[in-house]
Amino acid sequence: MRIGIITGSHRKDSQSAKVGHFIAAALERRGGIGTWTLDLGKTPLPLWDEMLWSQGEQWSELPALKAQLDSSDAFVMIAPEWHGMVPAALKNFLLLWAAGSELSHKPALPCAVSATDGGAYVIAELRMSSYKNNRLCWLPENLIARQVKAICNENETLNDEALQARFAARSEYALDLLVAYANALRDVRALGIIDHETFMNGV
Ligand SMILES: Cc1cc2nc3c(=O)[nH]c(=O)nc-3n(C[C@H](O)[C@H](O)[C@H](O)COP(=O)(O)O)c2cc1C
Repeated sequence: MRIGIITGSHRKDSQSAKVGHFIAAALERRGGIGTWTLDLGKTPLPLWDEMLWSQGEQWSELPALKAQLDSSDAFVMIAPEWHGMVPAALKNFLLLWAAGSELSHKPALPCAVSATDGGAYVIAELRMSSYKNNRLCWLPENLIARQVKAICNENETLNDEALQARFAARSEYALDLLVAYANALRDVRALGIIDHETFMNGV
């Protein structure tokens, strides 16, 4: 099974990327799961434009990314809360894919990141407005990495023990569910009932 981790901060050295590493390690410890990461801070994508449909030069890297997404069974989408919003880089990423084999009918675990006790707006925004055409299936569980500077640090002396234990336990539970949904939704995609030619866009 392959799981893609998409990190939505614009910053090159972000706390979101740190959380992404923690989650990737937790997934790979299970065995039988390979992960790959798209860090939108380190590898920014161009903003959507019409040239996407005519292989414009700025989109020359997109086929390689599409292949990564196509071969993935599930995703973890990590979004820092910025002014109560999902950063534009992640919204732009979600805009690039329609009802193809990249995201459609694949499960995604949303994970918000906050320096303090925020993060809930990001989860609400992702669930409300980011799946209509690409048909990504948000898991009914989510993670919020609150007080993020005190958790998920490789140097464990920097972690707050109680906060770290709580986030790690919640991650394990949510990732168990993500893997189970990934297996189940493979069967849904194989049923032959998905019709994105007649119903290309959601309503
Ligand atoms: C422009 C900006 C706006 C922010 N707004 C919020 C916010 O609304 N709520 C919140 O909890 N944290 C907010 N933060 C703090 C982030 O949660 C914090 O930077 C955290 O480390 C995640 O960002 P990173 O992944 O880019 O490092 C904001 C940070 C930035 C840079």
